Amino acid sequence: MRRRQLIELHEQPWFPTFLRNDVTDTLQYGFNLSQAYVPVAPLLLGALDSTGSGAIVDLCSGAGGPWVGLARRIQWKTADAHILLTDKNPNPAAYANAQAGSTIPLESHHEPVDARHVPKELQGFRTMFTSFHHFPPHEARAIIQNAVGSREGIGIFEVPRRAPAAMLLMFLWCLAPLLFTPFIRPFRWSRLLYTYLLPIIPLVLLFDGVVSCLRAYRPAELREMIENLKATDYQWETGELRGAFLRPPVTYFIAYPRGDSGAGPH
Ligand SMILES: C[S@@+](CC[C@H](N)C(=O)[O-])C[C@H]1O[C@@H](n2cnc3c(N)ncnc32)[C@H](O)[C@@H]1O
Repeated sequence: MRRRQLIELHEQPWFPTFLRNDVTDTLQYGFNLSQAYVPVAPLLLGALDSTGSGAIVDLCSGAGGPWVGLARRIQWKTADAHILLTDKNPNPAAYANAQAGSTIPLESHHEPVDARHVPKELQGFRTMFTSFHHFPPHEARAIIQNAVGSREGIGIFEVPRRAPAAMLLMFLWCLAPLLFTPFIRPFRWSRLLYTYLLPIIPLVLLFDGVVSCLRAYRPAELREMIENLKATDYQWETGELRGAFLRPPVTYFIAYPRGDSGAGPH
């Protein structure tokens, strides 16, 4: 199955902000409930240990993605441990909600941050959950090169995969909000209206979910992407983590500066 760039509805400039926020709030709740990204915790902890930094700059955060649940699993010990949520379309109400539920400092940047040009002053290990597939190959490579150019680590994690099973899962995934939407905070009547009466949110989740799978990068493509990067002292790891019971596999890519100056990417 060839990768296709296509478009997702929630990323379109004409898509109403309140609906985009409802969609990303639903993703945030769903990812924390399903703990879909829990298997990446040891990888992240290992990378943070190697860099000696506890600061994380999360890009394309939406409503915070899986961070509330994941932070509990990581429990890193450095004094500067904190996560900064950022997005091209910041969602302050969702950030406040995620901060209230977090066991470690969860901060947020209320100015738009484009993942392709991260301001130098935002220092820390960069993470991207369920968002790298948005970018075509030249922009995706530039995101990694930008992290390398700033001597920062980067971790990319994706549940969407270019596989029929992952696409089928999207049909279940879009029905799940029918069960949990009343519990999502901050409470908004619009979310109930557009889930139950006019089910726009489930339909957007289905459409964008299937498109996300068709746009997803495979580990071999991620490996190819970094082959020509200008980075001689970086440690690279990419692959697929098997999901635990009822959890989908997660594609990952992790890069961080090596302490010694070793050979090129591997
Ligand atoms: C599918 S949502 C993922 C949100 C979150 N990481 C999660 O796991 O729930 C993708 C997010 O990427 C953001 N986004 C899209 N293009 C971006 C860009 N160029 N820079 C920063 N954020 C971007 C969108 O605003 C949206 O919130």
